[in-house]
Formats: sequence, structure tokens, C-alpha cells
Amino acid sequence: MFRRLSSCHNVDDMRLLAKQRLPAPIFHYIDGAADDEVTYRRNTQAFEECDLVPNVLAGVENVDMSVTVMGVKLDMPIFCSPTALQRLFHHDGERAVARAAEKFGTMFGLSSLGTVSVEEIGSMFKTPKMFQFYFHKDRALNNAMIARAKEANFDVLALTVDTITGGNRERDLRTGFTSPPRLTVGSLVSFILHPRWAVGYYTHERFELSQLKDHIKEGSNISVSVGEYFSTMLDQSMSWKDAEELRHAWGGQFCLKGVMSVADAQRAVEIGATGIMVSNHGGRQLDGSRSPFDQLSEIVDAVGDKIDVILDGGIRRGTHVLKALAAGAKACSGGRMYLYALAAAGQPGVERALGNMRTEIERDMKLMGVTKVSQLNRDMLRFRSAPGFQRTCS
Ligand SMILES: Cc1cc2nc3c(=O)[nH]c(=O)nc-3n(C[C@H](O)[C@H](O)[C@H](O)COP(=O)(O)O)c2cc1C
Repeated sequence: MFRRLSSCHNVDDMRLLAKQRLPAPIFHYIDGAADDEVTYRRNTQAFEECDLVPNVLAGVENVDMSVTVMGVKLDMPIFCSPTALQRLFHHDGERAVARAAEKFGTMFGLSSLGTVSVEEIGSMFKTPKMFQFYFHKDRALNNAMIARAKEANFDVLALTVDTITGGNRERDLRTGFTSPPRLTVGSLVSFILHPRWAVGYYTHERFELSQLKDHIKEGSNISVSVGEYFSTMLDQSMSWKDAEELRHAWGGQFCLKGVMSVADAQRAVEIGATGIMVSNHGGRQLDGSRSPFDQLSEIVDAVGDKIDVILDGGIRRGTHVLKALAAGAKACSGGRMYLYALAAAGQPGVERALGNMRTEIERDMKLMGVTKVSQLNRDMLRFRSAPGFQRTCS
């Protein structure tokens, strides 16, 4: 079926439009995950095994869905997680996502593997900004990235802690995905079959990894797989001491992205982090690991009064956001919920995705009988207990 943006009413619709418009290796890079993708599927399924219990007759004509997280106020309780290589998905890349995030008053996350520079994003956008930090072996590169993000007035530094080695992304192995794309007979055929993408990619500024290009050859036009990049460029000796030193060097709002255990959440508090993103990298790293929503309540119970807990991953609906907030998250974040839209239609696509999400959250809050995020609580959640699993939310 031929699809268009005006008929995209949800994340799944955007996914199908992205599939139609992208060369297969690029679509599967976004859509895929590790090993058998069990964790990836569970990240969304977890929300479906928990039901909302609404209240009625609550006078809900005016809804305020704003939240304050890590010192920044967001007009909606979900923000754009940092993701790599955005100009590969659509030629406007990060610029399109940041403009859309600004329009909706939410935070934009820029990746260390971003394709637009921190300086440009910092100077062009007033919306809250997170810089996502990969801890490289090259200390000069690490120091330069911190200095540049500080100078560009980013609000939050997020250290990603779940990519100590590359996840086994078998779809990428099958398609031969590399960044930038390697020209082979197969990829050429795929580009010819997707002329809109190919014209956009080849007629705009040359692809680069803007935060890395002055330091490593992989930052320019040398094609590498993302798994190779994680395994060879990032420092596997990274420890709590390094994270603490990074927090000191940054000196502002500091978050660990990819915390899943209570013990690690407690250590994040000890080193002075102001936020944690409960995340398994969208199922792209350790398959078989628990989903963020399944794990959320125990983390909130342990540290929710000491640090801002953010639920990252699996969110496809406004009700998923409400469930996470009711369980105690301060805010939510997501990648594919806006990436499919970016690939499908650039900035108008991301605006439509965020608009759909905002409309759903507003409608769902009214149907739940709440006018503020702070009114959501665990009394409004019921878990369908699965045999053999401990119920962690009371
Ligand atoms: C295509 C893609 C690229 C990503 N790149 C990065 C990245 O560069 N740094 C990072 O910390 N997380 C990255 N992530 C993970 C996201 O920040 C986020 O944790 C994940 O997408 C959440 O799962 P969701 O897509 O189900 O919302 C990426 C995810 C995707 C799908």
C-alpha cells in the first residue's frame, strides 16, 4: 500500500512510511535490535501487561502536561533521546528533530555520533538540550567534546553506560550496514529503488560525524559498522571513577544513560548524578535484559526521591508515557518514536509524531481524570501478574 504522512496516526504508521522511503540497510539499522530482539519487543509489551484505572468526574477541561526534569522544564513529559547518524535517515537530520522539539517545548538529545555540530545546535536552538557522551579511548577527544558542549550551553550531559561493547545486531550483519553507507552493487540497487532518499543524501552537504571528525578518521568518510566503532573506539576500562570525574569536569546536570539495576542507580546517586535514564538502548545491546518499564518501580522505590528517574525506550503511545509517570518516572524519552518520522518525512514528520504523542497524552490524561502529571500515581496501575515473576509494583 502506498502511504503518505497525512495518513500517519501513530508510531506504527510512521514506521511503515519510513520502510517505504528508506533503503533497506538504513531502515533495518533504525528498526533492528540485538540477537533475537526479545528485549526490543518486551520494551513495548511490558506496557501492555499493565492496565490503567481511571477516575471520572474530575473537571479536566485544562490539562498541564509539563514536567521539570534535571533542572529543565519541558512542555510535554517525553523528550527525544540522543540517536546517531540522523542525516543518514533524512538530509535535515538533527536540524529537523531539534526544530520540531523546540516547537513542542521538549528536550533534544544530540549524540556523540551526531551529524550536526554541538556549536550549530547550541546556537540555533533555545529548547533544552542534552549532549550524549561516549567515553572514548582518546582522552583528547573526550576533553574536546566536554568543552564544546559546555561552550554551546547544553543543559544536560548524559554518559551512555550500556555500550561497553557493540551489541550483536544481526540485521546490520545481513544488510552490511555501515556508516556512511558503502557503495556496493546491492546498496546501489537499493538507492535506485529509493530515489527520494538518494537525491536527498547525495545532493546535500557531505556526511560527517561532526563531534568526531577532527579527531578520528572514522568521523569522516571511512565506512565502519557501528558495532565495530563501539568495540574499537570506546574505552572498555570505563569505571565509576571515570564517571565521577566526568561529572566534575562537566559541573552541571549529569545523567547516566543505560542504568538498569538498583545497585547502579544507588551508585549514580553517590557520584552526584542528577538523573538516570532507565534504558537498555532500545534493545540494541544486551538481548534478554529486562525492559525499562518492568524495572522502573524498583528503581523509583530505591532512589526516586534522590535523583530524577527517566524511563527510556519502548514508548509508542501516550498511555505508555502515563503508565511510566504513574509508576514514578519524572519523564520519558524515546528514539524510534521520532526516528521513523524523521526518516518518513523530515521535520514535518517529527512534528507530526510529537503532535500525535502530545494529543494522545492530553486525551489520555483527561480520560484518566487528571489535569497534572503529579496527580498520576500507582493506585491508577494494575499489573497482570505473570506466573514466576515477582510483582514489583504495589
Ligand atoms: C537508530 C538509533 C540510534 C541510536 N543512537 C544512539 C546514540 O548515538 N547514543 C545513545 O546513547 N543511544 C542511542 N540510541 C538509543 C536511544 O537513545 C534510546 O535509548 C532508544 O532508542 C530507546 O528505545 P526506543 O527506540 O524504543 O524508544 C539509538 C537508538 C536508535 C534506534
